[in-house]
Amino acid sequence: MTIRTFTLTDDSTGKSSSLEALHPTVGPDVLNIAPLAKDHGVFTYDPGFMSTAACESKITYIDGDKGILLYRGYPVEQLAAKSTFLEVAYLLIYGELPDTTQLTEWQNNITRHTMINESLLRFFNGFHYDAHPMAQVSAVVASLAGFYHDSLDIYNPRHREIVAHRILAKMPTIAAAAYKHMLGQPFIYPQNSLSYGANLLNMFFAVPSEELQIHPMAAKALDLLLILHADHEQNASTSTVRLAGSTGTNPYAAMSAGVAALWGPSHGGANEAVLQMLEEIGTADAIPKFLARVKDKQDHTKLMGFGHRVYKNFDPRAKIIRETCHAVLKTLGRSDNPLFELALRLEEVALNDEYFVSRKLYPNVDFYSGIIYSAIGIPRSMFTVMFAIARTAGWVAHWQEMIADPAMKIGRPRQLYTGPTSRVYTDIHTR
Ligand code: SDX
Repeated sequence: MTIRTFTLTDDSTGKSSSLEALHPTVGPDVLNIAPLAKDHGVFTYDPGFMSTAACESKITYIDGDKGILLYRGYPVEQLAAKSTFLEVAYLLIYGELPDTTQLTEWQNNITRHTMINESLLRFFNGFHYDAHPMAQVSAVVASLAGFYHDSLDIYNPRHREIVAHRILAKMPTIAAAAYKHMLGQPFIYPQNSLSYGANLLNMFFAVPSEELQIHPMAAKALDLLLILHADHEQNASTSTVRLAGSTGTNPYAAMSAGVAALWGPSHGGANEAVLQMLEEIGTADAIPKFLARVKDKQDHTKLMGFGHRVYKNFDPRAKIIRETCHAVLKTLGRSDNPLFELALRLEEVALNDEYFVSRKLYPNVDFYSGIIYSAIGIPRSMFTVMFAIARTAGWVAHWQEMIADPAMKIGRPRQLYTGPTSRVYTDIHTR
């Protein structure tokens, strides 16, 4: 492959250096700017990392202009149609689709780790009943390091594998425990006979006093949403897990940092905010007034579930979820769901509005996901927790990829300093 270089010249000194462009397997070249500080004594400046590749990765590829999302090279549309969340989690972590033996062993390993230590259950009692579940989940995930000292050598591949089994298995159990605490209902233990999605729904909605019938469509729709939320390249929460993990901290602490980052309304918290927005808009005739507020810069109102740092076209996940909404609502007998009708109308109006078209703002993964979560009974307060359960697969994959990389360095960005230069301390009586 041809070597592509960029020549950078410091016009004040005439000094030039040649920067090499690194070639990806697909996507834009990446300019290696590492020599800049040494050769020219300058840093690059890129708030929000709009043009910065923070690492090399083989896990997920996104083409924002074409609306393409590949997990280890497989289009998300194919995985959504044919795979399961646990198989996709295996793919993201190991890089290849499992064969029957590998998948069975993987599923058994996850199933055997779904219970959490009994004393961990008491942590939830320390929260008020109305504590946001993301506060509970981030705290309890971090505390897992206090229970599993036997496998915290992050440079031991077997320990990293056990961490993957444990965190993927326990996230639904932790989420369900937070939910049951909010309801004041008894905690429901995992059932090894159930699939990953069905087990989650059972822990959420079963009560000791009666058998819960889980609708197969509800379990299937949940599994699809978990697949679609499993990974997304170097998004804010995954980058947080990488940065925290780069210090050598234990993986549960790094994942807990990821949960905290995902909670933000600009990121994983948007799915909860979309439902709130739809309920506030109420009816289709209120859409113009709402969009006027969105366009009024003084108002700071965003069209939640719209826009994306990378996708300047349809988020492929949004398209799949929108199509699934129709099937789920029909099968579960909720096809007259007013919020779904309102969301469809809001999308149609926004996509014909110059403000959104000119800024390439399209529905993202969060715009429709809440409709399905609501249809299968998940309350709005738990939407972001569902996102965290799914994204744990991506966080584990990226954490493992980084830790296994012998070139790994602690992440430590520099800055553009515009504060005061050195000055002399003055006595308080003279200030
Ligand atoms: C996720 O990174 C990932 O991959 C994330 C994710 C994943 O799977 O991990 O895909 C999941 O986080 C999806 C995004 C969920 N968030 C939302 O739906 C919240 C609403 N969206 C916006 O906050 C916003 O679109 C972001 C945060 C998603 C992206 O913001 P950017 O890339 O920083 O874009 P920007 O703020 O520079 O916007 C460019 C312009 C601005 O207007 P001007 O200053 O040019 O006039 O578009 C406007 C913005 O004001 N704009 C919006 C808007 N999003 C951008 N205006 C109204 N409503 C919006 N939603």
